[in-house]
Amino acid sequence: MKFLAKLAFAAAALAAGSASAQTYPNKPITMIVPFAAGGPTDVIARIVGENMSRTLGQQIVIENVAGAGGTTGTTRASTSANDGYTVMMGHMGTHGAAPALYPNLKYDPTKDFEPIGLAAGTPILIVAKKNFPAADLKAFVEYVKANGDKVNQAHAGVGSVSHSTGILLTSQIGTKTTQVPYTGTGPALNDLISGQVDILTDQIVNVAEQIRAGTIRAYAIATPARSPALPDIPTTKEAGLPGYEVSAWNAMFAAKGTSKDIVAKLNEALVKALDDETTKKRLLDLGAVLPSGEERTSAWLGTFVAKEVERWNPVLKASK
Ligand code: MLT
Repeated sequence: MKFLAKLAFAAAALAAGSASAQTYPNKPITMIVPFAAGGPTDVIARIVGENMSRTLGQQIVIENVAGAGGTTGTTRASTSANDGYTVMMGHMGTHGAAPALYPNLKYDPTKDFEPIGLAAGTPILIVAKKNFPAADLKAFVEYVKANGDKVNQAHAGVGSVSHSTGILLTSQIGTKTTQVPYTGTGPALNDLISGQVDILTDQIVNVAEQIRAGTIRAYAIATPARSPALPDIPTTKEAGLPGYEVSAWNAMFAAKGTSKDIVAKLNEALVKALDDETTKKRLLDLGAVLPSGEERTSAWLGTFVAKEVERWNPVLKASK
């Protein structure tokens, strides 16, 4: 009797689950961006979110939950209801670097999420305020090495992309700068433009327009090849710092236990957004690298996150 009751309960739960997946979404979806508005994570979330909203027939509302290098918003996303109505835009920091830098991190990027899909690859650029006293990357390296803590280096909080890629840069140069944390590289970039901070390593989507407008100075892009969005900017290899090659990424996640059908609907909508000509153009103009076929699946993202956590752990521990 007890067994039959349990069976009936399980069947009812399953039916309710698939019914809710069928009608999903029937109200707006919140997408947590764990950084300030206007930065790279926010920009990518808004660009893909806008198109996904049209496909899903419900608005995707962006909620910026900034703090602690993105880990505050990511913790919130990991503990939110797993009904598909709260998702998040994470990145290489929140789901790759953070575990190495936060011994008491309240989430496990590999266990507490359902991966939805990769939204974009984002090459890293070494940039500085417009009148930074170095004409090229070699001079930049010499200046930063000679001036150490007199150089103010902006970042989006411990564990963020700008922080971990910034640590990599200064450890490779063999110096320590003064670290200036922000709630995202949106506000950090504003202070770089006004000259209140000196240098930044940032995702291309945040800096491409300012580099083109000449309001900040770019020394190199840390990828093996130049970006079609910024063809005049040399690679770190070309400019004399070949060991500094690093790229970041942004991806969507839902809380663990979100039904497979809902994750599949969200993945389909994301992939459709990446194939949409207008959305694609907006991302490519900002220098984003669009994921290829197999990189677009949820399963691929799950495996990738596990590899990223493994990759960053020894690198960041050694840099510290
Ligand atoms: C980072 O450095 O992690 C990002 O640029 C954060 C952001 O999206 O602002």
